[in-house]
Amino acid sequence: MSNGRVNKSRIASALGLFAFILAASTCLFAAAARQVPVPPPPMGWSSWNSFSNTVDSANIQQQAKAMAESGMQKAGYRYINIDEGWWLGKRDQDGNIVVDPKQWPALKPGERAGDMSNIVRYIHSLGLKAGIYTDAGENGCGFYSPDIGPPAPGTGSENHYDQDFLQFAKWGFDYVKIDWCGGSRENLDPAVQYAAITHAIEGAERSTGHRLYYSLCNWGKQSPWTWAPGVGGVTADIWRVSGDIVNPIVANTIRANGKASFQNMLRNFDQGIHPEAQHTGFYNDPDMMVIGMPGFSETQNRVHMSLWAISGAPLIVGADLTRLDPATLQILTNPEVVAVDQDSLGLQGILAAEPSPGLQVWSKRLAQDGEYAVVLLNRTNAPASIPVTWKQLGLQPAASATVRDLWARKDLGTWKSGYSATIPADTAAMLIVHGHPLGDERVDVNSPAVELSGGASLKRCAFCFGGNQVPLGEERTVTFSVTGERGQTYLEIFYRNPARQPQIAELEVNGKIPTRIAFPPTGNGSVGSIMIETNLKLDGAANRLRFSAPALRDSDRLAIVAISLSGAAGADNPSGSQ
Ligand code: GLA
Repeated sequence: MSNGRVNKSRIASALGLFAFILAASTCLFAAAARQVPVPPPPMGWSSWNSFSNTVDSANIQQQAKAMAESGMQKAGYRYINIDEGWWLGKRDQDGNIVVDPKQWPALKPGERAGDMSNIVRYIHSLGLKAGIYTDAGENGCGFYSPDIGPPAPGTGSENHYDQDFLQFAKWGFDYVKIDWCGGSRENLDPAVQYAAITHAIEGAERSTGHRLYYSLCNWGKQSPWTWAPGVGGVTADIWRVSGDIVNPIVANTIRANGKASFQNMLRNFDQGIHPEAQHTGFYNDPDMMVIGMPGFSETQNRVHMSLWAISGAPLIVGADLTRLDPATLQILTNPEVVAVDQDSLGLQGILAAEPSPGLQVWSKRLAQDGEYAVVLLNRTNAPASIPVTWKQLGLQPAASATVRDLWARKDLGTWKSGYSATIPADTAAMLIVHGHPLGDERVDVNSPAVELSGGASLKRCAFCFGGNQVPLGEERTVTFSVTGERGQTYLEIFYRNPARQPQIAELEVNGKIPTRIAFPPTGNGSVGSIMIETNLKLDGAANRLRFSAPALRDSDRLAIVAISLSGAAGADNPSGSQ
């Protein structure tokens, strides 16, 4: 209600037509605000799927070397993540972690055996980053369900959060995965524990200057997409949304003969879709990939990569990197597919259409205006034609668009209204469609465009707060109505954040569970924009967006300038007024 903004939209209903014409005329101005890139999902490798508890310095060095030499590092893979099994729960009398000096020896003269910073230095020397693992509870997973064993009590960080995360940062690690086996057995509240861990990481950063990227692993228990984005004020993180795709398959052990299952991979993909939570650097994590592991054919590897990329998932490889064949490496490093995953809007793909059961069209909006990645996925056991229309993507329905096949790396020409292809059973095609975005007239417009400093205007501005900026130190509410066919809509939020750090605010849409938005810095005085997906009521009823930022550090300076709606609403009957 502040500054009459809520009522402004109501009053505007009377002036709807006037506002509509005024806003449409601002299309003539170029957009002045810059889309601010958000942190992409992490790319790397984890030791768990192929080494289980047999992880040690020798195999970590081999994997790091393979990442550096195989072209994976060049393609964007960075993290070498040491998962469970690196430590058996031993602490000294001061509670400091004690590791096995044989498992983690000195690697260079002057180094001390039993010091994890040796392996971190090695990983860094290749230009890569290093990840480590613990549990939020007292005991890690290996105590409750030892894999290759032995059962190790005390491998969690509970009661040692500050001490352990400081230790990880001092060793030089860049990434930490925190499991939930102990937390789950002890019936702890994950939102509380993971927030406490964020504060421990912040403390560690304050004293070492070294930041740990945050990977939460509670397998989708207690719906982490509702509380894990930005938990404890962290400005980028990932959270697991499902169980493990595969049990470890470890050469020359009792675990040598397993096979990864295609159905499990599809299950994890489905369970990972929570697009309303995935934006501005926060990502659903459907588990490390099984591409290149026993049981997966080349085609299945390609489907798997397509699905992880369209959903903007972390690309963490679980296979033994020293054994990848050239075809698998090509799949993992296809630059156009990787670029879809890493797109700077940071959004998740959505199911745009399912023309018949098992024939699916997935689409992911990309930073380039009018560009969508599309996966045509045939989950049936017979070949079938799968059509996608531009309207389903949120593009101008009758206009032309270019289509490119990302696996064939080939342009497929220009198509009017839509495209369709025959897809074999259990296979997927991956495309980029570049069409014409819907114009201003496709969404409800109830206030005129905002003037920015320098005289430029914002294009496609639906809610401009009368040209004022809205500081986010307190609660702000915006209401408006819009009509259309599909609730899934993109909100582009124009804002100013002059601070050096991203700042976090909460957004509640129509009284549902809020999501946290991280606003990256825009530089002093300038306006930037970020994009989120949300679900709106499109039947003409009022939509209510409530922003709040109780924990803002720089409260008077993060400000929203305007919000525009676009894209996937697929609105056929836009209303210029309410
Ligand atoms: C859980 C996690 C896995 C792995 C193992 C280690 O199962 O989901 O990714 O970290 O624990 O025990």
